[in-house]
Amino acid sequence: MSFIIIVLYFFECKTFQLLQFGLLVVSGSRMTAAFLSFLLAGPVLLAAGSHDSNNGTTPVVLWHGMGEHPSLYRATHYVQRVREFCDSCCNPLSMGAIKKMIEEEISGVYVLSLMIGKNVIEDTENGFFSDVNEQVSMVCSQLAQDPKLKDGYNGMGFSQGAQFLRAVAQRCPSPPMKALISIGGQHQGVYGLPRCPGESSHICDMIRKALNSGAYTDLVQKHLVQAQYWHDPLNDNLYKKHSLFLADINQERGVNETYKKNLQLLEKFVMVKFLQDTVVDPVDTEWFGFLKTGQAKETETLQESVLYKEDRLGLAAMDKAKKLVFLASEGDHLQFTRDWFNKNLLPYLR
Ligand SMILES: *[C@@H]1O[C@H](CO)[C@@H](O)[C@H](O)[C@H]1NC(C)=O
Repeated sequence: MSFIIIVLYFFECKTFQLLQFGLLVVSGSRMTAAFLSFLLAGPVLLAAGSHDSNNGTTPVVLWHGMGEHPSLYRATHYVQRVREFCDSCCNPLSMGAIKKMIEEEISGVYVLSLMIGKNVIEDTENGFFSDVNEQVSMVCSQLAQDPKLKDGYNGMGFSQGAQFLRAVAQRCPSPPMKALISIGGQHQGVYGLPRCPGESSHICDMIRKALNSGAYTDLVQKHLVQAQYWHDPLNDNLYKKHSLFLADINQERGVNETYKKNLQLLEKFVMVKFLQDTVVDPVDTEWFGFLKTGQAKETETLQESVLYKEDRLGLAAMDKAKKLVFLASEGDHLQFTRDWFNKNLLPYLR
């Protein structure tokens, strides 16, 4: 094994209003490289899409979760390792490949890919996208302005992109999202680090504490994307009170009837969980479950949660209406084959 360096850096911007808080965990391990890109999957949106006619098909909007940030990687000595990791993990799933695959399967379909940008530092400097709530509203206006989407679209979110797209569904009903497909999304947030299940590792615990102690400060909430879905079951009050993004969309501070109404406009909400996921902890979050409040070992399913029992978000109603679909895939985070995709997800896009 190798050493781990935790670098907490504060990136000061021209205006002094913006401090970028980042946590770089650098180690020789491949999975830590995964964590690096997971943690820093950042705040910039780039749009790419073709402009054919809709052809009677339903457009697809993709929101990716793990971006590549070459400038940042170059700053480390691990550029090659990270690249190798990304090649093995992300290439088959790069939004370009997914877009192409969907276009091949559904001829004439319009696929819009909202991608996490390439240069996290530069784009954080202008300070605009580092707040997930702002990213969501940017995406909302981008979707509203796209004439090809006016009759509706299917949303497909990967990893953190999944919960961000859910926020789009809840906040921005126009244009209408028909199906939301969440692939390895973290709907109840995360409380853990890759390859660090539960409380098992001292090192992971230490890193967790670092994020933990700062995650709910306003500064970190506004500028570290992952802090915005950090869910600490041991500090439930802090989470509910200070989580600017996740606690809001999950109705932790109150019930926003608009969210509830809008989410129920979905025809389907499909959640894919990866059975051997080593990146997301707890993996139950991919099916909207989480750790029971007050401890960090036992988990509960969505159906066991207060959110569901009180139906604060309309999920129980959606379940009853058979709108919720829970799919499991063998493999690690975001690993699936084209056959699996065609068999399990493609039907929801047609
Ligand atoms: C509820 O959500 C809508 C849509 O995002 C928003 O406009 C409204 O301000 C929210 N209401 C409250 C009380 O937060």
